[in-house]
Amino acid sequence: MSDPQLVLAARVQAALSAAFGPSYADADPVIRPSQFADLQSNVALPLAKRLEGERGGKQNPRAVAQEILDRLDVSDLVSDVQVSGPGFLNFTFSDEWIAAQAQRALADEHLDVPRAERPQKVIVEYSSPNVAKEMHVGHLRTTIVGDAIARILEFLGHDVVRDNHVGDWGTPFGMLIEHLLDLGEDKAASNDSSVSDLTAFYQAARVKFDGDEEFAERSRKRVVLLQAGDPETLRLWNVLVDVSRRYFNVVYGKLGVTLTDDDIKGESFYNDLLAPTVKELEDKGIAQVSEGALVVFPPGFKGREGEPLPVIIRKSDGGYNYSTTDLATIRFRHDAEHADRVVYVVGAAQALHFQMVFAVAGMAGWTGDMRLEHAQIGNVLGTDGKLLRTRAGGTVKLAELLDEAVERAGTEFDKIERDEPLPAAERADIVEKVGIGAVKYADLSVALDSEYIFDFDRMIAFKGNTGPYLQYAAARIRSIFRRGGVEPQDATGPIVIGHAAERALALRLLGFGAALQQAGDAAEPHKLAGYVYSVADAFTTFFESCPVLKAPDEATRASRLALCAVTLRTLSTGLDLLGVPVPERM
Ligand code: ARG
Repeated sequence: MSDPQLVLAARVQAALSAAFGPSYADADPVIRPSQFADLQSNVALPLAKRLEGERGGKQNPRAVAQEILDRLDVSDLVSDVQVSGPGFLNFTFSDEWIAAQAQRALADEHLDVPRAERPQKVIVEYSSPNVAKEMHVGHLRTTIVGDAIARILEFLGHDVVRDNHVGDWGTPFGMLIEHLLDLGEDKAASNDSSVSDLTAFYQAARVKFDGDEEFAERSRKRVVLLQAGDPETLRLWNVLVDVSRRYFNVVYGKLGVTLTDDDIKGESFYNDLLAPTVKELEDKGIAQVSEGALVVFPPGFKGREGEPLPVIIRKSDGGYNYSTTDLATIRFRHDAEHADRVVYVVGAAQALHFQMVFAVAGMAGWTGDMRLEHAQIGNVLGTDGKLLRTRAGGTVKLAELLDEAVERAGTEFDKIERDEPLPAAERADIVEKVGIGAVKYADLSVALDSEYIFDFDRMIAFKGNTGPYLQYAAARIRSIFRRGGVEPQDATGPIVIGHAAERALALRLLGFGAALQQAGDAAEPHKLAGYVYSVADAFTTFFESCPVLKAPDEATRASRLALCAVTLRTLSTGLDLLGVPVPERM
């Protein structure tokens, strides 16, 4: 482990326990970036307060800091450590230590990022579109963010289960199946227009359901048949599921996400578990009848008038609903899948639903040590600040949106001046990666719960905190190697720090592990995105002030090439974990 922050934290903790006793070994060493040094520990200030009680008298934080310093063994790490201000400890790492750690990262295929000591089984539930409905930009975002979370946790050594909780069950399927029969099964299933126009298909069914009593009646009967497992009805249902699945895969393919058909565990999967789930809630005395429905009142959830809010687990007509399915899902994940952690990457609008369902699951004893978290995805807005819609006011089709991104990336890309044009196939490949990468990075670079404005112009810009800028940074490093006739893997250093920009870059590179850790723990990929961006920035400064191929001497050239190699791997690994593709050149 060579992450400066983590290494230092461990050393300060050791000093704390040596100075004040073993009970201080786990105290937060309060390590922060510092304006006057590389890192700062502010632990002496809270500690002085704590010691006042124990020692029975006022304690001067500066003196406490000095006590820590006296026990602190950091001579191998730092070139300077000082007590400053009201009692801060300021650390400046030695150039030799930084260089040695960068060298370690270079030599290690995992970039010296530690793997989890106790790997967890983590279910990352994401994408989760609905059968026979268009995927919308909300699904785009949950797909992209969820995929990044899954990749990051996997890299950190966890056992990740991708879970696509597709909405493929419930009352709408009665009308959808009847509509399919009315249209003619062959026509609806084989004609590609039905694939691309799921919205129209769904709406047509809805219109008939609302306006045609005979159709509505047929639809209701069909739901009963579906739930009873009637083979012919199940076959028709499967036709609908297949059509949608093909459509989802078109979008997943364009996006380059890691989801496959094997990851689909839709709502239908839990159908047989609904009744036993409800029965257990009844047996445990948690559920009660209210206005004909079976409900649970989780404590603490109140409506506007202060009235207790119910989770309905069986409707008055005897049917189960979305909440029932989610409860059955939690029970299954706990009892059968033995998950340690479940991350629900789902729109923020469902926050209350999840809070209440998690609470009910807790009451039933289905959570135990299993950590359930809702990674709330904020809305995607258009440049007008309203929910993103087509000009006509309809749902934006994801496949078309992605195609437009690629097209616009092409226009931007062709503006770059070059000595000779790229071969058409290579251009197409790059432009595809830039367009898709731009959309994905835009989603990932903002906090996932904040709303964000879908703005092609901004996301496809080659400057600023954008996907193309980062892709370009990686491509630029590759081009240094190409021009120098060196393979990145042959650039082995040794790394020596001789310039402030080299030092700043190397120090940044060492923060990769901590950035990943934070992103993984919080299920917040934007923390990794921010880090990757800061690496690209540090590289730009380095590149502007430190010639690489034309370095003053052979040793400096070798060292700088090695720094370029670690930077390239850090950038491309980081981008890969975000799911942003990296073109060979740009
Ligand atoms: N299919 C739902 C939707 O499109 C999302 C499912 C979220 N996951 C869950 N376990 N309820 O809104």
